Amino acid sequence: MTEPPAADPPRRRRQKWTEDDKGGARASPERLRSAKTRTASSQRWLERQLNDPYVQRAQAAGYRSRAAYKLMELDDRFRFGFADARVIDLGAAPGGWAQVALQRGAKALVGVDLLDIEPLAMAHFMKGDFTDPDVAIKLRAALGAAPDIVLSDMAANTTGHAQTDHLRTSALLEAAAVYALENLAAGGRFCAKAFLGGAEKDVLAMLKGRFEVIRHAKPPASRKESPEIYLVALGFRGR
Ligand SMILES: C[S@@+](CC[C@H](N)C(=O)[O-])C[C@H]1O[C@@H](n2cnc3c(N)ncnc32)[C@H](O)[C@@H]1O
Repeated sequence: MTEPPAADPPRRRRQKWTEDDKGGARASPERLRSAKTRTASSQRWLERQLNDPYVQRAQAAGYRSRAAYKLMELDDRFRFGFADARVIDLGAAPGGWAQVALQRGAKALVGVDLLDIEPLAMAHFMKGDFTDPDVAIKLRAALGAAPDIVLSDMAANTTGHAQTDHLRTSALLEAAAVYALENLAAGGRFCAKAFLGGAEKDVLAMLKGRFEVIRHAKPPASRKESPEIYLVALGFRGR
């Protein structure tokens, strides 16, 4: 897939999210003729993809995922300060967040995922399970210094059983928060996916007092029907 243009679009002022951010007006929804081989849920997924303005924008702009817009929206609002930052990207595949972090000026980025990730200029991607302690050590070694920003968009593969999915994604959030607390440089920033009703309250309590600012937010690009939110912590007070 083509990479997005190297130049960063002009930065908008710190902003509140508006209806315009939600992808603009929708064209009339596409209906797919059901193929006999498609399950009802994959049929729904395909229709949702085809009708999702963020998917269309991401494809047109050369982003690897619609998730790229979530990070852009979060950064427009919270100002993570990617310029000259060293970034760890947990759950990085297919690489949309990495594209945004680098476009916005990160000087080094190391990402990890269970899945293979297509190479991206300036990024160092590793394949592995972040919850394996060896992988966490390798990430830090590959970055060569303490990260200024730890991002986690990790989500466990869905099993169809909501409670199990919540528990598994909550465990990933906790692991990412512990990693951030143990590795971030002073002044560092942390942004991680959480599921409402999961461990986000415990993790917020863990982060409290260790950062100057802690917020949770649902960017417009995050689907309304999804329980996903993002925890944002700015100004790490140090270890
Ligand atoms: C929503 S996707 C990330 C999208 C990415 N931020 C982007 O913009 O392209 C979530 C990713 O988390 C990864 N993941 C889940 N559990 C993981 C683990 N234990 N270690 C590393 N990656 C994991 C999944 O393989 C999946 O690719």
